[in-house]
Amino acid sequence: MSSLSIRTFPDPILRKVCTPVRRIDRSTKAFIDRLIETLYRQPGGIGIAAPQVGVCKRIAIVDLSSKEPSAQRLVLINPVILKGEGHRLFREGCMSLSDYTANVHRHEKVHVKWLGLDKQNHELSANGIEAICIQHEIDHLNGILFVDRVASLKTDVFRRRRYL
Ligand code: NI
Repeated sequence: MSSLSIRTFPDPILRKVCTPVRRIDRSTKAFIDRLIETLYRQPGGIGIAAPQVGVCKRIAIVDLSSKEPSAQRLVLINPVILKGEGHRLFREGCMSLSDYTANVHRHEKVHVKWLGLDKQNHELSANGIEAICIQHEIDHLNGILFVDRVASLKTDVFRRRRYL
């Protein structure tokens, strides 16, 4: 199995509203395996969405286990945020816009539902970085990038420092 290449801004696929998954079959599972492998190839990566590898389908992976050992990997198929609560400003980054970080306004907590690989409906109340990451990845499925959510492009977007 091989990992997939990451689409970067301004690739037009990052601006598309992705299509719901109608059937979970062997090819869906094989694609998800490759998506997970692609996420793990990125140092510090905690989430990835299908359009970031050029597939316009409503699939995303959230895995905080590198930061929080108790965290479980979420394979989110057709995810929907049922409820968002509270507010948090968080410094985010993205593999598709890797030269920048930005202060992004998000819900502090979210209640999300999705279809699992087991074809069952799942629900979860998430907070902290997990809630931020879920919101960031679901935005990708709607063609929204984190820099779209900043209050000011002048004061809330930062160029990453590179030490070459
Ligand atoms: Ni991203």
